[in-house]
Amino acid sequence: MYYLNENIENLVRIFDQNERKDYLRLDLNENPGGLPQEFIDSVLKKVTPQMVAQYPETLHFTKILAKHLETDIDHLCLVNGSAEGIRYIIQAFTSVNGRIVGVVPSYFMFQIYAEMYGRNFVKVTYEDNLTMDINNIISELTSDTQMLILLNPNNPMGNVYTETEFEAIMSVCRKKEITVLVDEAYHYFYPQSFIKYALNERHVFITRTFSKLFSMAGCRLGYVVGHPDDIRMVQKYCTPHNTNAFAMLFAEAILETPGVLDTLISSFQEGRKYLIEELDKCGYRHKGEAGNFLFIEPRTDAQRIVNRMKAEKKILIKSYPNVGEFGNCLRVSVGEKKYMQKFMEALLELDK
Ligand SMILES: Cc1ncc(COP(=O)(O)O)c(C=O)c1O
Repeated sequence: MYYLNENIENLVRIFDQNERKDYLRLDLNENPGGLPQEFIDSVLKKVTPQMVAQYPETLHFTKILAKHLETDIDHLCLVNGSAEGIRYIIQAFTSVNGRIVGVVPSYFMFQIYAEMYGRNFVKVTYEDNLTMDINNIISELTSDTQMLILLNPNNPMGNVYTETEFEAIMSVCRKKEITVLVDEAYHYFYPQSFIKYALNERHVFITRTFSKLFSMAGCRLGYVVGHPDDIRMVQKYCTPHNTNAFAMLFAEAILETPGVLDTLISSFQEGRKYLIEELDKCGYRHKGEAGNFLFIEPRTDAQRIVNRMKAEKKILIKSYPNVGEFGNCLRVSVGEKKYMQKFMEALLELDK
């Protein structure tokens, strides 16, 4: 008898990846400038016919990553983009109809996976002033909750949690045996991390990606950090040879070449400083303490600005509806100063 999974049939997905190449892309929190061309060329010189012909071997790069994180390989699982790791954690550590608590708005795939696998996603919303009251999270941590998903920092809100706040949340999760997943896709834009929890305790995971600061979204590479016993469960879901050789080659080169990471961080910081100063100068309210993105409250209609940026300026940004006291607002990815100048010029021209 033919069968179709009802959850998949009812799931609404939006695939919007096409025809973005001639645009300045400030809509998906990529690095618009990417890695320096000379760096790309030097890495590509290491590509051999054997490397392309063989299935990728993960051990070598996992060891390099473990050294970088000052841990050992048993705590790590490489994945084909952190979105893959998130999916496996949800699959392994929650059940059909299982209760997952997460903040909204945030990265949409948490809710998509919950729907895909028939989980019950319970939303904790932000305050009107765009802050997150952790008591609202804690009050949803019922004894039948199986998983709490937090983002540090959160995309798109840009907020972070202090150590004291996280510890308060963790103490409830430990007591009620709730698995905790902290998405740190935007780590390095905000160096504070909760990785020590994932390294030292059972049932705590951190997911990270090479798509953002590392500027490798086109290669697809991410990783999960957790206790070895939990990591083994995540690994069972991986397809054979799930991470590709090019991605690992680039990531290795970034980690092992002195200065590359620092240059990426400092050119991002210069762009962010410029954008914030210009927005302040021009009287725009904005929000986003951390991450490579900002919410901006426009003077005119947000969606109209997004449409005109695309049509007239070839710049892609996003609008978000009903973001607390900001109302309908713009979200723009932050990159090198020259791109922020282009965006600011366009904003001032179109937002009137
Ligand atoms: C919060 C968050 N987590 C995860 C991801 C997915 O990243 P990856 O490219 O590693 O799948 C994104 C991508 O935008 C994100 O914003």
